Amino acid sequence: MAQIGTDIGSAKAFLEAGNVVGIPTETVYGLAGNALDTDAVLTIFRVKNRPSFDPLIVHTDSFDKLNRYVSHIPELARKLAETFWPGPFTLLLPKRDLIPDIVTAGLPMVAVRIPNHPLTLDLLRSLDFPLAAPSANPFGYISPTTAQHVVDQLGDQVPYILDGGRAGVGIESTIIGFENNIATVFRLGGMALEQIEQVIGPVAVRTHSTSNPKAPGMLSSHYAPRKPLILLPPGTSPDPGERVGALAFREPFGGIPAPNQRVLSPTGDLNEAAKNLFAHLRALDNLAIDVIYAEPLPNEGLGWAMNDRLRRASVQE
Ligand code: TXA
Ligand code: MG
Repeated sequence: MAQIGTDIGSAKAFLEAGNVVGIPTETVYGLAGNALDTDAVLTIFRVKNRPSFDPLIVHTDSFDKLNRYVSHIPELARKLAETFWPGPFTLLLPKRDLIPDIVTAGLPMVAVRIPNHPLTLDLLRSLDFPLAAPSANPFGYISPTTAQHVVDQLGDQVPYILDGGRAGVGIESTIIGFENNIATVFRLGGMALEQIEQVIGPVAVRTHSTSNPKAPGMLSSHYAPRKPLILLPPGTSPDPGERVGALAFREPFGGIPAPNQRVLSPTGDLNEAAKNLFAHLRALDNLAIDVIYAEPLPNEGLGWAMNDRLRRASVQE
């Protein structure tokens, strides 16, 4: 069973020995291993039960180190990175040979980010290799936002989990790529489009569902609870029932038992809602209910990313 703690030295020792370790980030917890060690990366894929065609994000702590892993940083990428890193977004940049092909699933671009979490930044500073880290959930399930979530699902396969408290952003990083000086968002996430556009101007968004992430992007049936989730049309309410659960934005629905409901943000704050989203979905998934209804969020700020996750988790797709 995994040890949980805040000891960076222990995490470092396990990683240097080629093991995988649970790490906190501001978005979600990651399942980390030495990105330069093919065996460690294979262990990540095995523990997550993740198909090898789905590439991993490489985490580092400085521009100096980044330059060892990528061969070029376009001007728009540099602007974003200098403004918002450490922060909840990932850049797709041309990889150097040092990054094993298995990390990028054979693609010429590597996904990289500098995460904004003090423990993980300290850990990264202490290491002489970057960390490949997908979200620390079994493939296809909801991402973890606490150390306990990681224990619950991967605890018997991970020797150490670095406990950095609840993830402050709560939703995976926004993924951005560049082609001919045009920025394209491939995954909506913890950095709002509005913020990105303030710095680099209008961006394209290409987040269509695909079963072939080489496209690149995300699988459609993702982030899903075990229970069927139904995304409500805007302005509608779920059918009442004793075995119905609901994920509401500001206030609970009538006709559904209070213990079967979770409210994302009573004040209507989308950042608070994002921070609660995955923990609330997990809690609902563990109740004695037959179905989860989810209310769509307003399409602004992190609402876009949350609606994306709810759509992918829902039974319609
Ligand atoms: O917030 C996050 O990004 C978290 C934390 C731990 O950093 N990580 C995360 O990793 O969400 P993961 O593996 O669950 O999602 C990574 C996504 C995948 O959808 C993958 O297809 C895409 O990034 N990706 C990775 N490398 C890529 C590449 N070279 N080209 C295109 N997409 C890539
Ligand atoms: Mg994931």
